[in-house]
Amino acid sequence: MTDDAHPASRGVGVVVVAAGSGSRLGAEVPKAFVPLAGRALLQWAVEPVRHLEGLASLVLAVPPGYEDPGHPAWQGGWLPASAVLVAGGAERTASVAAGLAALDAACDVVLVHDAARCLTPVAVFERVVAAVRAGADGVVPGVAVVDTVKTVDSHGFVTGTPDRASLRAVQTPQGFRRAVLDAAHASGLAATDDAALVERAGHRVLVVEGDALAFKVTTADDLARAEGLVADGLVAVPHTGRS
Ligand code: C5P
Repeated sequence: MTDDAHPASRGVGVVVVAAGSGSRLGAEVPKAFVPLAGRALLQWAVEPVRHLEGLASLVLAVPPGYEDPGHPAWQGGWLPASAVLVAGGAERTASVAAGLAALDAACDVVLVHDAARCLTPVAVFERVVAAVRAGADGVVPGVAVVDTVKTVDSHGFVTGTPDRASLRAVQTPQGFRRAVLDAAHASGLAATDDAALVERAGHRVLVVEGDALAFKVTTADDLARAEGLVADGLVAVPHTGRS
């Protein structure tokens, strides 16, 4: 049966994975709850999703314990009322799987987004959805690589120098036809991104233009860079309550 025969099953589901510890950031709270200009990274990450056309379901995979809506981390009223909270897993892949399991049935397109890419513009989300709607099984935003990249063996010796023109650094949100992503996760394999699982299952994944603002906050330097972008007015500040 086609989606066209079941218009009710057309909708975009978004899983935001936010269950990482953020140990490389050295903060006392899990990374997604570290403040950026007074608001949790997760609040910044969710902001563009609120503006996404066709949004049918939003699931946040959070550190165990934070799935309780009464947890103090949710004070401030910024959490969208329709958002579903689930406990994430020990690895990113497990957090995505937990999120997928909680998505509403009325979604034929799924986006998976890292909370750590908290300043990703809504235009990136829209490009990814449009490319899945246009027929791709999987879509990732990517940017050209400026460094020359080497592959190395276990001793650190260079084994190759891929042509830089053929390399892309990929970001999130990554988008998929829902059935494709569900099947890829059913394999039980782990990967650092969802596209890798879909590629391994034999599907073609398209790269669309990413955005420099979709960088991942991993270290204190990344957080300082994000603070600078906010201070310079280069990103829209969420209008909802402060966390
Ligand atoms: O660890 P890494 O930088 O790859 O994390 C990317 C994203 O995956 C982050 O937003 C992090 O919160 C999330 N994550 C998760 N569950 C884990 C590990 C990471 O949701 N167990």
